[in-house]
Amino acid sequence: MPTSLPAPRLGPLLALVLLASLPFYTTLAQEDPDIQAREQLMKDLGKAIKSVAPMFKDQAPYDADAVRGAATAIETRGGKELTALFPEGSLDAESEALPTIWENWEDFARLAEDMVLYGQALSAAAGNPRTTAEAPAAGAILGDLAALEPPSDPATLAALSPNISFEGLLKTCGSCHSKFRKKDEK
Ligand code: HEC
Repeated sequence: MPTSLPAPRLGPLLALVLLASLPFYTTLAQEDPDIQAREQLMKDLGKAIKSVAPMFKDQAPYDADAVRGAATAIETRGGKELTALFPEGSLDAESEALPTIWENWEDFARLAEDMVLYGQALSAAAGNPRTTAEAPAAGAILGDLAALEPPSDPATLAALSPNISFEGLLKTCGSCHSKFRKKDEK
């Protein structure tokens, strides 16, 4: 059995697929720009976390500069940068945001601020000596992080192991997602 289509038949087939996908493409292009922007912001956060998570699990050599870079990428996407992309009622079929965001706005905004706090602290503490005892599992990002209670005073955090602030960051992502993001199979 041939496993690929003969080339002369591919052209017309592709044309069909492209034509058929035009209306769908138009729908995507009309997606709410705030929703698109916040999904991109969240993807960037995910990338930053993933780039350094193996270091905190001792699966990759620790690199303080890389940790500082990731911390800055996270910290600069927190606070108002994040909350501004959630105007009241901005939901569509694609969005995983829950309407409870706008009923508990202070809670939501505080979590966005916590992300700045722990991002700045991680940046400040990146070069500190590390202890491995508190290193969190990266899988905990989307899990139940209620058990973790990192300190929240910036001066204290800056003097501690960077592991503590990384843990604080993961806890912040996790708390916001468990309260304000739809659970899905992803
Ligand atoms: C203040 C609340 C809040 C914080 C803090 C937060 N998130 Fe999110 N995140 C959300 C919400 C709400 C959504 C769903 C957005 C939507 O679909 O409209 C989301 C979606 C995501 C997505 C899916 C994006 C997509 O559509 O593909 C990823 C990945 C993600 N967040 C990673 C992170 C990481 C990593 C952190 C921590 C560094 C983090 N988030 C911190 C609220 C938050």
